[in-house]
Amino acid sequence: MMRKGVLSLFFVFAVFILTAYSSDVRLATTPDLNLLYTADNLFMQIVEPEDISYIYKVRPARNFGGEFEKIYHHIPLVVANPYNGCSKLDNGRRADGAVVLIQRGDCSFVTKTINAENAGAVAVLITDNDAQNDEAQIHMIQDGTEREVKIPSLFLLGKDGYMIKATLEKYRMDNAIVNIPFNMTGMPTMMNSQPPWTLW
Ligand SMILES: *[C@@H]1O[C@H](CO)[C@@H](O)[C@H](O)[C@H]1NC(C)=O
Repeated sequence: MMRKGVLSLFFVFAVFILTAYSSDVRLATTPDLNLLYTADNLFMQIVEPEDISYIYKVRPARNFGGEFEKIYHHIPLVVANPYNGCSKLDNGRRADGAVVLIQRGDCSFVTKTINAENAGAVAVLITDNDAQNDEAQIHMIQDGTEREVKIPSLFLLGKDGYMIKATLEKYRMDNAIVNIPFNMTGMPTMMNSQPPWTLW
């Protein structure tokens, strides 16, 4: 009787060890974020507000900025103040841990990205200053200053940036909620999820 009890205890313990070991192995093989690219693009999903809850194409800068090291789930997206991001952000506290949306123009892409990074942003979206631009992707490049940028810097269509900012203003919201980079794998049809105003 006693021996049987010890044996089954041993068995339970062995199963426990095996289970712990195999889940460890699963953790060790982290998914490859490079698989999230389609051509030169990554994607971002807006979860809230619902009006603009679509999947957006975002294009990482060509030769500056960091890479995503993980997928960020349900983090804030805030609009930079000033919107051109050419000086220290006045709403820096909101930018901490968030994705920051900045408008193209007045200073370099690198300067904008550094100002967002200094406020603690995890990534920056630079949107075209042409609010009607719904198809031309810009290849963002270094400004020749050789300054180091750690966070990912991504280009967003002018029309997308315009719609995001206008919708947040309409609802007087401080931020949207996003998933970035969004994993498109296994999405049945991209067509249903892209913004209705955009031609991908
Ligand atoms: C993306 O989703 C697919 C399908 O669900 C999954 O196999 C893959 O590991 C995911 N990739 C990442 C980087 O999470």
